[in-house]
Amino acid sequence: MKIVVIEGSPHKKGSTNLLAEQFMQGAKEAGHTIEVLDAAHMDIHPCMGCEHCGMDGNCAWQDDVWQIRDTLLSADMAVFVTPVYYFGMSAQLKMVIDRFYSYTIKLSCKKLKTALIAAAWDSDEDVMPCLKAHYQKLCRYMNFQDQGMILATGCGTPAVTKHSEYMKKAYALGKHL
Ligand SMILES: Cc1cc2nc3c(=O)[nH]c(=O)nc-3n(C[C@H](O)[C@H](O)[C@H](O)COP(=O)(O)O)c2cc1C
Repeated sequence: MKIVVIEGSPHKKGSTNLLAEQFMQGAKEAGHTIEVLDAAHMDIHPCMGCEHCGMDGNCAWQDDVWQIRDTLLSADMAVFVTPVYYFGMSAQLKMVIDRFYSYTIKLSCKKLKTALIAAAWDSDEDVMPCLKAHYQKLCRYMNFQDQGMILATGCGTPAVTKHSEYMKKAYALGKHL
């Protein structure tokens, strides 16, 4: 499979990208090809809701979302990678998702396989449910086929995350796709 990993953390060497690396290691060993899109450091604007695209046309913005769009439309699977920010995904990743608007129909017809990798500082059970529910609803709406979630609680820094159980879990998710 061609797998696109969309990274939404401002920390290039942060916890979520560390987990994404483990996932990619496993997926490469399983024979998949990977393309990484570091969305947090790309030129991406928020959707203006201008309706120029009519949900199935050209977006008014000329930015890196065109590259993301082409990559996703030619992929078999996407992995959404995000730190937990106030119980949801980062704004950096949310901008990518809001910009699906101009190709929602094309993308939802693909029945794309997807996964979610998220890390949060706190370790209590209230940290992930909102993000998880959002992702699951997105999957239903977009006809995404969820392949798994790594919801890494208690992973506030890469030093801690490196020694967490989620490293192996992320690797296993990639390896067993
Ligand atoms: C703006 C902001 C909001 C955050 N909100 C939460 C939160 O709601 N719950 C939590 O447990 N951690 C929260 N955190 C901590 C990050 O989720 C955590 O440090 C994560 O490991 C960062 O991942 P990264 O290194 O990949 O960027 C927040 C951090 C920032 C900067």
